[in-house]
Amino acid sequence: MTSYKELGLVNTKELFEKAVKGGYAIPAYNFNNMEQMQSIIQACVETKSPVILQVSSGARKYANQNILKNMARGAVEYAHELGYDIPIVLHLDHGDSFELCKDCIETGFSSVMIDGSHLSYDENVALTKKVCELAHSQKDYVTVEGELGVLAGVEDDVSSEHSHYTQPSEVVDFVGKTKVDSLAISIGTSHGRAKFKPEQCTRDANGILIPPPLRFDILEEVEKQIPGFPIVLHGSSSVPIEYVHMIEKYGGKLTDSVGIPEEQLRKAAKSAVCKINIDSDGRLAMTALIRKILVEKPDEFDPRKILGPARDELKKLYSHKNQNVLGSAGRA
Ligand code: G3H
Ligand code: 13P
Ligand code: ZN
Repeated sequence: MTSYKELGLVNTKELFEKAVKGGYAIPAYNFNNMEQMQSIIQACVETKSPVILQVSSGARKYANQNILKNMARGAVEYAHELGYDIPIVLHLDHGDSFELCKDCIETGFSSVMIDGSHLSYDENVALTKKVCELAHSQKDYVTVEGELGVLAGVEDDVSSEHSHYTQPSEVVDFVGKTKVDSLAISIGTSHGRAKFKPEQCTRDANGILIPPPLRFDILEEVEKQIPGFPIVLHGSSSVPIEYVHMIEKYGGKLTDSVGIPEEQLRKAAKSAVCKINIDSDGRLAMTALIRKILVEKPDEFDPRKILGPARDELKKLYSHKNQNVLGSAGRA
């Protein structure tokens, strides 16, 4: 049993309170390997931003949970070495069972998500409540994120063909019965790099897909029901067209890519949305740089010379998000 405090981590409680009051969102960046972790910490130290390091069950399978835990410990020490102790959360992304959440809580995670959004409402309440009881009764309080409403989109371990929006009429009952610390809602975002079907979008003069706007009316209604309660947005990558073009220029094919425009995320971050999840944009940036180098330098075979520039690009991307999209820069 490891408590997150032994690793130098914090839970989300105070971070979310400050973020809701301050009108910004904490970045929740997924990581699976050392280069992603390093770039996240470099960017967040440089911009003085708190950060949530997220681990999906796919990441645990890929990288090993003990390695990830010790990377989180390393992240705390790395930030210190870089000269600024930012608050760092280690969070389970899309936990799908009580056992997985329990395992993470016992391994040093400071926050877990129990994603019961695919269950019936009553089953979601029962499962989320059970995880909260365990997490909140730890010597060091572990925070829990629940979810109401379903996001569409496909990742390795997170998939659903159809979305349905969160029903604002359910949120008071859900939060009251489960005692969750934050709530992920569905207002039109979705996972992955193709967030909408082309027929749901319009096109600009260059043929670039323009997505339909997020359902801010649902967000406002949720906020009326649970004023000041921390809200989470999943599926919030913007899918920068420059990375899509770079990937395609160097041999990739990413047909019909479209994300959530940055100004809509900025607007959301000014509300009670206090955690914004971003994974796909990091994947795009990394893949774009790796493809570029492999094509432009065919004699290069040192992985450091391939992954190093990808890491630098990731850092640039995360710094930009903290400063210009989430508003978390300068809040650590
Ligand atoms: O929301 C899902 C995250 O992007 C994680 O994706 O399950 O492929 O690691 P993954
Ligand atoms: P994106 O696929 O939009 O990056 O969403 C990531 C996410 O929600 C992780 O939980
Ligand atoms: Zn998600």
